[in-house]
Amino acid sequence: MMNNKVQLLNAVLVIVTAIVSVNFIVKWALKTLISRRIKRRLPPVVKGRLPLIGGVVRFVKNPIKLLEEEYENLGSVFTLNVVNKNITFLLEPQVSAHFFTATESELSQKEVYRFTVPIFGPGIIYDAEYSVRHQQFRFVEDAFRVTKLQGFVDDLLEEVQEYFSRWGDSGEVDLKQELDNLIILTASRCFLGREVSESITEEITSLINEINVAKGPVTMMFPYLPIPAHRNRDKARKKLDTILSKIIVSRKSSGKSGNDMLQTLIDSKYKDGRATTEAEITGMLITSIYGGQRTTSATAIWTGAYLIHYKKFWLAATEEQTTLMKKNGNTINYDVLVGMQVLYRCIKEALRLRPSVPLLLRQSHREFSVVTRKGEKYDIPRGHIVAASPVLSNRLPHIYTNPDDYDPERYCIGREEDKLAGPFSFTSFGGGRHSCLGEAFAYFELKTIWSHLLRNFELHLISSFPETDWNDIVWGVKDKVMVRYQRRNLAY
Ligand code: HEM
Repeated sequence: MMNNKVQLLNAVLVIVTAIVSVNFIVKWALKTLISRRIKRRLPPVVKGRLPLIGGVVRFVKNPIKLLEEEYENLGSVFTLNVVNKNITFLLEPQVSAHFFTATESELSQKEVYRFTVPIFGPGIIYDAEYSVRHQQFRFVEDAFRVTKLQGFVDDLLEEVQEYFSRWGDSGEVDLKQELDNLIILTASRCFLGREVSESITEEITSLINEINVAKGPVTMMFPYLPIPAHRNRDKARKKLDTILSKIIVSRKSSGKSGNDMLQTLIDSKYKDGRATTEAEITGMLITSIYGGQRTTSATAIWTGAYLIHYKKFWLAATEEQTTLMKKNGNTINYDVLVGMQVLYRCIKEALRLRPSVPLLLRQSHREFSVVTRKGEKYDIPRGHIVAASPVLSNRLPHIYTNPDDYDPERYCIGREEDKLAGPFSFTSFGGGRHSCLGEAFAYFELKTIWSHLLRNFELHLISSFPETDWNDIVWGVKDKVMVRYQRRNLAY
């Protein structure tokens, strides 16, 4: 009887202890959660005149204006609500380091660049598992190793000389059209090889342009919506597939090798020893042509517009050509191109002021925090789209002196403003984990073209100074850029 009583008492004690403990744990958990919520500081949100969509309307109307205004109002971190998505902008190097260095499991590209899948193809780049994508990017990177770049120089020079030999002694041209054409010819020669004829290159160009008609916010959000622009994109992609497959088969069956991207991609092997398939090679070639064409041609045009407009820098770049030609017996090779430092700075400054990739995007999978220059801490929730913008961060006044001025000398030793706030002060080629794989090649292409023009022509801008065309995913140059040229021989 006594035993039973003790047992009952014990049981009651256990139950009471359990209830008290559970109660305590629940209270503690709730308190912690609530206090975390209170402590969590979300970025300020962009407002517009219309509730809910006001910010988006302002963004679509003039994205630069919105970024500038909200940077002024809200600071370097803010969120824009777009339909059912939140885009959080990180606009200074002080808050963008995580954006550039985070792993794929923290901030990924796959979701935000999904619109490229119908262009690059299934199983390619952003449609591939990260481990596969990483290897595919490595194949592209291999095509731009120093030894490969050295091999490209003669091809680039030949293509550029041949192109401008078609210009007369004097005349007027649309520089935009001319440089667009030339960039596709030079890239096609280095990517696809010398045996690809000019007519096939022209066909590839027009198909890439047709693919690009599907652009803008609708395609970004719903890349498979059955609209005419998407149907045309898919038709053009199929035709491109046929042309490139023929080129691949012909190279493989010829038994010949080439110093071009096509050869690198054919020879590439995945870590498990598997060779690249024709569909993968086609997809990676399209990725490279698509990724490199409009970005490089816009930069070529802006470089020209600034050089022609600012005579001081045209003269400095021309003087460098005279010095280099004297020193190197009127020849150009890899080392001479590397030595064109004045021209390099002129191109880089055009890229700072007119970055062709205006927004870099990632999908956040894990909450992270940033601390601004002024010491404000913000927590960026999981699920937000996160954006960095070279358009704004390249013109920050605490990094760049007179940021709106074209001043290539800001990169000279002693000033080096592009490094003032660390590695993410200049982001026209992105940075960190996903920085541009074609940067070195793009500079070689641009230097070959502009050094030729500086040595062989006087140019005058006859239309007004160009404006940015932001009606595209890659920002280009609006309207024609008419120049008057006069052939000349620079004395060495
Ligand atoms: C002036 C010309 C160019 C500019 C301004 C430019 C700009 C950029 C930028 C800003 C990024 C980073 C995108 C991001 O972080 O989401 C990028 C990535 C990339 N670019 Fe370029 N690009 C240029 C030329 C080229 C060329 C010629 C190629 C040729 C293959 C190329 C291939 C790539 C690739 C493959 C990536 C992806 C790298 C990765 O995600 O790991 N780019 N480019």
